[in-house]
Amino acid sequence: MKLSTKDYPKLLVRPVIVVTTISKNGVPNAAPFSFNSPISFEPPLYGFSCNPAHDTWRNIQDTGEFVVNVAGEDMGDLMKILEEKYPYEVSEIEKAGLNEEPSDVVKPPRIMEAIAWIECTLDKAVELGDHIWVAGKVVAAGVKGDSWEGVLEPESSKPLCHIAGEFFAVDMVTKKFERAKK
Ligand SMILES: Cc1cc2nc3c(=O)[nH]c(=O)nc-3n(C[C@H](O)[C@H](O)[C@H](O)COP(=O)(O)O)c2cc1C
Repeated sequence: MKLSTKDYPKLLVRPVIVVTTISKNGVPNAAPFSFNSPISFEPPLYGFSCNPAHDTWRNIQDTGEFVVNVAGEDMGDLMKILEEKYPYEVSEIEKAGLNEEPSDVVKPPRIMEAIAWIECTLDKAVELGDHIWVAGKVVAAGVKGDSWEGVLEPESSKPLCHIAGEFFAVDMVTKKFERAKK
């Protein structure tokens, strides 16, 4: 079946992350994103695509730091609060009833309820189409609880993935496939 080219993101299941930032005045902000990807191992670089009108982008330009909080299934119901356009310097973390915890390296807080975190400092931002590709240098990362088996273990961590709009994908399992010898 042929689709409109605008529908292409609906063919890709992507992890949901909640990016936390702070304003110049130190007020935290949180917003969900799903246009996101690892970029490089060395240096470790991570990127996500941000609408330039978002407070997230304003804060990153002002402070140069952000935290990628990897969302679990239990945050699914909070998406509608987290994506709400509140006035600048109203914290969606509080609105969603989530809890902050201090990050290891950067100033924006982490979200305690997330399944994993990636702390970043801004490396580069590139205007691509109608979004800004925000590339961050990874300065710290970690996983909550005991969901680490050399990789993130999806059975216990239950990552939340996005397809489009209100459509999400859940219930992932680990499966190992043979790989070519290196
Ligand atoms: C699951 C989900 C994924 C989203 N992905 C993106 C994205 O990749 N890029 C983007 O610019 N906005 C995305 N949004 C919309 C923003 O989260 C939303 O506009 C939010 O209000 C921006 O908040 P801010 O102004 O506090 O930064 C997404 C929303 C949801 C619920």
